[in-house]
This record gives sequence, structure tokens and C-alpha cells, in this order.
Amino acid sequence: MAYQSGFGNSFSTEAVAGALPEGRNSPQRPAFGLYAEQLSGAAFTAPRCENRRSWLYRLRPSADHPPYRPYRGAGLLRSGPFDEVPPSPNRLRWDPPEIAEGVDFVDGLVTYAGAGDPAAQAGIAVHLYAADRSMTDRVFYDADGELLIAPQQGLLRLATELGRLEVSPGEIALVPRGVRFRVELSGPSRGYVCENYGAPFRLPELGPIGANGLANARDFLSPVAWYEDREAPVEVVQKFQGGLWTTTLDHSPLDVVAWHGNLAPVKYDLARFNTMGTVSFDHPDPSIFTVLTSPSEVPGTANCDFVIFPPRWMVAEDTFRPPWFHRNVMSEFMGLIHGQYDAKAGGFAPGGASLHNCMSAHGPDRESHAKATAAELAPHKITDTMAFMFESRFVFRPTRFAMETPLLQADYDACWDGFEKAEVRP
Ligand SMILES: [Fe+2]
Repeated sequence: MAYQSGFGNSFSTEAVAGALPEGRNSPQRPAFGLYAEQLSGAAFTAPRCENRRSWLYRLRPSADHPPYRPYRGAGLLRSGPFDEVPPSPNRLRWDPPEIAEGVDFVDGLVTYAGAGDPAAQAGIAVHLYAADRSMTDRVFYDADGELLIAPQQGLLRLATELGRLEVSPGEIALVPRGVRFRVELSGPSRGYVCENYGAPFRLPELGPIGANGLANARDFLSPVAWYEDREAPVEVVQKFQGGLWTTTLDHSPLDVVAWHGNLAPVKYDLARFNTMGTVSFDHPDPSIFTVLTSPSEVPGTANCDFVIFPPRWMVAEDTFRPPWFHRNVMSEFMGLIHGQYDAKAGGFAPGGASLHNCMSAHGPDRESHAKATAAELAPHKITDTMAFMFESRFVFRPTRFAMETPLLQADYDACWDGFEKAEVRP
């Protein structure tokens, strides 16, 4: 796989020499008779720093397609507004899902929770996928949002309109709204998807941290142009305003021979994250682990932050080092790629998930609390771990599946049972 590095950079790439027009976007006659098409990921008039668009030069215009009809697969995929069941104020945690047989990425999407509404272009949905079959003769695109894909098991090959990406567990991919792609699997596969209805993910501001640190732009990789010239029936499944639709072309739409612009799929290896932390005392807020943020219109109050809990040194003196007890106006959906999360002694398995919604009290379980308060505070390194959080200003509303599946742990509250009362002696 060939990649080009940077986040939000303007790239120019061609799979065939001479396919990319020089000096203009829509020449009267593009080379080879290619069709020029602009893919806009931001309003035309969005400020320059927010503006995302790419120009694609393709074998056939995307507009050349038959009507879409309702699609009946992906039976557990849901969309905002999330009102199937009343939202629960309880802390929720799920065991990892089994990987079904004969299911591809699209049909293997199962929605656990979401917030907001694609019609308002605000909020997110959280899906897990569990699949064992590559997509063949079909592609998918999401008109409702950008997709952040975090494999937990199994390497994914994403064949997109703008090129190919290989994404392993421990890496993430971002597929922009509207970009068509096919997911090929290397075996039984499972992972997490954040469908972002709001502003596209971007790197967070660094403030006093300075010009370097957290996720560095150069570690994000976009594909180079690649295309297939394939005359065969190819199904296109799209998600539009919560519904799934299908049509069939007589050719592959992955036929972009050249493109330029700053709207492109990207992948990122979470191991490249330059983790910051305290070197004196206290446990910093987890916002210090923000990889990407989708801002809302309220400053500093994200539509969604993508936050990770990577391997790192713990050196704080006189400090309760694991995540503290906490009640938060923001809502927190967590997953685990591998290893163990340092606030829980058990029960939160790779491929599992947890939800701590607005003002739900949460924090270390009894065992982790006892261990951390008794620990000898020498520097130590947390290794073999990669948990993450989708944190949103919007309350996550679980789906009916999420509330009724046997994967939902009935005894999650018990991990906070039986804390001894503090003894105050006035
Ligand atoms: Fe929290």
C-alpha cells in the first residue's frame, strides 16, 4: 500500500501519468475523457481552515446511476433520533459480541447507542461490527456522517474511491461522508464504528502544550489514487437520513484515476500518539488524551471527542493514579481494543463496551480502588492496553438491541458495591 502523510493536507495524486489536470479543476476536456467531479465535505463558503473538498477524475460520473430502492439488510443498524426505548440512567456494560458467519461489514453493523440526528447534522451513533466475509460486488457509503472505524480483531482492507487503506487493530480509519468503499476482511473481524453526524473530526488545538504532541499530523496517512476498471454488476448501498438504500451499477464506482484536494480517507496508528501526562501530582482530565475532535457550536464542548488510554508511564506523587470517581455533564461511551483498562479489575473485555451517561456516577471499581490507595507510588508503566472513549456533549440513547441483548451485564453496578464508609472523627 502506498500512502501520503499529513492531516487536512491538500494532496495531488494520479494512478496514471497525465490523468490529473494541471492548473485548473474542471478543464473543458480532461485527459483520457475522464469526468471531473467535486466532492464537497464542507459548505462552499466554510472558512478556509474548515473547508474540505476534493476533485475526482473518474471513468464515469457518479451521477450515472439508477434509482435507489430500500435495502433490507443490516437489520440491527439504527440511526438518530434514537427513540426505540427510553434512555436509561444506569451505567451499562456489554460483553464482546460473537462474530456471526456469512456476514459482511455492512450487514454486520449493530448499533449500541447514539445521540442527535443526521437531519440536524449533530450527534453521533456508535456501532460495533462483527463480520467474517469480505464485501464483494458491492460498496457502501454513508450520506449521514463520517465513519471512524477502529478494528479490534482482524485487519481491514478498505478499497475506497480515493485509494486503498489497510487498517489493523490498533489503527483507526476515517472515511469521509459520502465516500464509497468496500471492506475486505482477512478473517473473522470485529471492531467499533463512530458515525459522526456533526463537524468532521480534526486534530485538537494544543494550547500551552505547544506545536508538538498528542497526535501529530504527519502520522496520518491517506491513500494514493487507485482505481478499478471493472464492467460487472456492483451494488451500491447508502445510508441516507437513517434509512438504507440500494442500487446496482453495471460497473465499479471505485474508478477515480486521479484526485486532488484535502478531503480524503485517512488512517492513523494509535501507537504513534505522543501521550502527555503529569510529572508532579494529580490525574489530568482525560481530554489530555484526545486524538481527534468533532467540535460543536459551543466552544470546547465537543460533538464528539475520540480519546484513547494508551500505554504510558505513571509517576505522579501522592496521587490516586487510576481514573477518579467522576460525574460528568458529557457522556462517555468506551471500548477496548486490547489489554486491560486501568480503572477496572475485570468485566471490561476487548471487544466489549461501556456507557456512562450524563451525570452517571462512575470510576474505579472496588478492587482497583483498594489497590491504588494501597500502592507504593514508584514510577511504573501501564503496558498492553488500548482503551478508547467517544465522549459527547449529547446523551447517548441506547438502542433496543443494546438494552435487551444478553451481552448487557446485569451485575455491572456490583463492581461499586460495598465501599467502606469513611470514618470521620470530629
Ligand atoms: Fe468519566
